[in-house]
Order: sequence, then C-alpha cells, then structure tokens
Amino acid sequence: MTMTMPLRLRKFMLTAHVISSVGWLGAAAAYLVLAVDVLADQDAQAVRAAILVMELIAWFVIVPFAFASLLTGIVQSVGTTWGLFRHYWVLFKLLLNIFAVFVLLEYTTSLSQLAGVAAKTTLSSADLNQLKDPGHIVHSGGGLLALLVATVLAVYKPRGVTRYGQRKQHEQRRRQRGEFTKADRQDLEEAVPVPDPSTQPGGMSAPGLVVVGASHRPASS
Ligand code: HEM
Repeated sequence: MTMTMPLRLRKFMLTAHVISSVGWLGAAAAYLVLAVDVLADQDAQAVRAAILVMELIAWFVIVPFAFASLLTGIVQSVGTTWGLFRHYWVLFKLLLNIFAVFVLLEYTTSLSQLAGVAAKTTLSSADLNQLKDPGHIVHSGGGLLALLVATVLAVYKPRGVTRYGQRKQHEQRRRQRGEFTKADRQDLEEAVPVPDPSTQPGGMSAPGLVVVGASHRPASS
C-alpha cells in the first residue's frame, strides 16, 4: 500500500531521513577511530576515556539515529510511489537497516558492561585486556560498510523491481488505460456479498454477474 505525501511533507521527511541516515554514518566513522585507538593505545587512561566516550556516542547518537533512519525510511517508502516492497534497493535497505539495528542494540548493551569496568578507579591488566576487545572494530567497521552501501543504493536507486512491484506497476498501467483490474474485482467482491454458487439452483452467481459487468465496462479513451 502506498499513499502519496504532499510535496512539502515529502521534502521535510526526506530531509529528516537524510540527516538521520548520513548522521548515523558520520557517527559510525568517528566511533571507528575511537575503536582503533582503544586497541592501539598503550595508555590505560586513554583506553578508559575512549570506552566511556564510545558508550555515550553509541547510546545518545548512534542508536537514536539508527531508529530515526529506519522510521523515516519506512515513511518515505510508503508515503511515495517507491513503496516498501516494490524496488529491490528499498527492500535491501530495509533489511540492512533492521539487521544493523539488532546487532547495534546487542553490541551497545555489552558496551555498557565494559563502560562499568572502565569506570573503576584502578584497572588490572585483565580489565584492560577486556576493554581492548577487537569486536569494537568489527562492529563499527561492519556498520560503516553497510551504511556506505545503503547510501550508494539510495543515491543510484538501481532499477530492479520485485515481483510484487511488477504486479503493482501492471495494475497501475491498466488503471490508467481505464481497464478493469483483478484488484478492482476483489474490491467489488468484498463490497458485494457473494453467495455460494452451489446453493443457487440454476442461477448465475454474484461473482459471475460482477465479472460480466466488468467485461462490459467501456474503456476510457
Ligand atoms: C540504512 C541506512 C540508510 C541510509 C544511509 C539511507 C540513505 C538515504 C539517502 C542519502 C537518501 C536520499 C537519496 C536521494 O534523494 O537521492 C535516501 C532516500 C530514500 N530512502 Fe534511505 N537510507 C537508509 C535507510 C532506509 C530505509 C530503511 C528505507 C526504507 C525502508 C529507506 C528508504 C528510502 C527511500 C524510499 C528514499 C527515496 C525518498 C524519495 O525519493 O522521496 N532508506 N536514503
């Protein structure tokens, strides 16, 4: 189902979508720099500080942007003729975003435990090793890559249309030519109660009447 948003609203929502999505990408890039520092830096105080900053950025910038990107992306899809399931690039971005949000939430929860360790007054070497988890780089690097792919898809909008999208395009073209579509027939059948033909002795069933009516509908010029 799609409904077309008025132009002003569409522009407003697109602005919100680009800010949240590309903001998420920028925050992920800054996060990656801190993650590399955590693994490379030998100074325990620097590692501790980086983990505490990473936790703040994750909860207060990255997670809100990720949800905002998902939400505004869905609005932008159903509120325009792009639709949510019609074009492969939109569908792929949707799946990518949902997957990224799941991984992000799981990772950020474990990061909060590490921040608890980093906040201790004294750090043992075991604590320090725990903070220097390579997962920081894997998660932020992987996330950044996914967001770069999503941005390229969004800008280039490759042409591939899903089967559902093809059906919808076909229906739309037929409607524009003034022809009667399967969807119209379904709408009518839902509106008119349909008796079971086997219980109609010799009579024509309601769907039959509907179809006859449909086939005699004049095509508009
Ligand atoms: C994963 C992170 C995402 C990033 C980095 C991203 C990025 C972008 C960017 C930069 C644009 C503007 C492109 C242009 O105007 O040429 C855009 C548009 C769009 N995005 Fe996303 N997006 C993301 C997620 C999503 C999701 C989850 C959906 C849908 C479920 C979505 C649906 C759309 C649609 C339909 C447009 C076109 C809107 C229009 O033309 O009015 N995006 N996206």
